[in-house]
Amino acid sequence: MKVVRGGTVVESNWSAPADLVIDGDKVLAVVAPGTPVDESAEIIDATGKLVLPGGVDPHCHVGFTSGEFTSLDSYLECTTAAVFGGTTTIIDFAIPRPGQRPLDAAVEQRAKAAAGLCDSALHACVVDWDETTAQQLATMADAGIRTVKMFTTYAGETMANEHTILNTMRATRDLGGMVIIHCESDAIVADAQNCAAATADIDASHMSSTRPELAETASVAAILAIAESQGAPVYFVHQSSPAAVELVVDARKRGLVAFTEAVAHHLTLDATEYAGPEPERFVCCPPLRATDTVEGLGRQLFTGNITTIGSDHCCYDTAQKRSHRHDVRHMPNGLPGVETRLPVIFSHYVDGMGLSPSRFVELTATNPARTNGLYPRKGSLMPGADADIAIWDPAREWTVTTGELHMATDYTPYEGRRLRGKPVTVLVGGVVVVDDGQLVDATPRGRHLPAAALDFSGAFHM
Ligand code: URP
Ligand code: ZN
Ligand code: ZN
Repeated sequence: MKVVRGGTVVESNWSAPADLVIDGDKVLAVVAPGTPVDESAEIIDATGKLVLPGGVDPHCHVGFTSGEFTSLDSYLECTTAAVFGGTTTIIDFAIPRPGQRPLDAAVEQRAKAAAGLCDSALHACVVDWDETTAQQLATMADAGIRTVKMFTTYAGETMANEHTILNTMRATRDLGGMVIIHCESDAIVADAQNCAAATADIDASHMSSTRPELAETASVAAILAIAESQGAPVYFVHQSSPAAVELVVDARKRGLVAFTEAVAHHLTLDATEYAGPEPERFVCCPPLRATDTVEGLGRQLFTGNITTIGSDHCCYDTAQKRSHRHDVRHMPNGLPGVETRLPVIFSHYVDGMGLSPSRFVELTATNPARTNGLYPRKGSLMPGADADIAIWDPAREWTVTTGELHMATDYTPYEGRRLRGKPVTVLVGGVVVVDDGQLVDATPRGRHLPAAALDFSGAFHM
């Protein structure tokens, strides 16, 4: 038995001074501070700290192949970095290679879970619809893989057409699942890129203009219409502008079950990075947005309009980002961020702007668990939950430097940023894995987490 003593326990709907009693790999009880416990219990001192459910990262690409590039981390590397950053569950993607069946991609990716330092779950991915797809989705749902990633862009790679998206929405709806979708109008993006290429303005510094906000909002509107036609729940990944978020809010008012995910880099970095000396390091889709767009998106965190915050972690290194920096059409998209997601959001929005610790937990742990069929096992510290815990020092000041991070890359988009707030001790399944910045138990204990059928009838921020 262990007791986390003296801290403030933070759940998504309350926080209070409390001690946490852990039995094996589960939370046994949340008790009043100082409640006597078994004398043999190991005491973990959390005085002055926040005791948070470990983060659940709903959007994390591990060893992700796109075109000629594969991001650089293994499950062990990605989950080790995650745990250092206070995240104790990642949700990865089974993106099929060209010609590969979605089910085979899922089986292949799921086998990697055991190499993780923490647990993981999977999103499936459908690119084309054929006569076997419905059965493949049913088989995956039976195995607890119920969320299905789709793309309206990346033509020739993972882009799905509207027929495929509609069919997949209908099938997942009936399987207790949900389509999660990357929305950018490929036609608008391709046209913007072609115009830019014609004037040789296609290098990484032109990332914003070649993937305009309109491409995103146009696609979100089209996908909402398809979801409404099917009465199917839908989750929009990495929404990057308040305008895109508002479309989802309006659809919810009409009765659709629809969710917005924001990602840490769209909330804490802006398009001025593309005018800097190494714009390629910031190339991601959708791109970083103008400062006022970032501020507007951030304000949506306080309204409840945003459901989750992910990382969209893609662990490319500088050499990969540089290799096609003169032409964004051929660059690897995505930023490393599984380790920095919680600290940069805490520092900017909780410490800096007064977002409540409970809302922080809701956005980064509880709602990601709920929208992925993992709650209350994950995203909560109530009795019976997995004892995945981030003991967080809200006053710890530190500077982000690549050398002190653990992601399998040679850069971070936050290099040199001063932050306040850091996880100091992290438990995975009741075991202290990180303590005072040191990895103290490197045993891979990762399990693939089967998602329960999704049920959005209960009330939570949507
Ligand atoms: O730029 C990004 N987001 N790359 C990763 C793949 C995706 O679109 O999520
Ligand atoms: Zn995406
Ligand atoms: Zn992604």
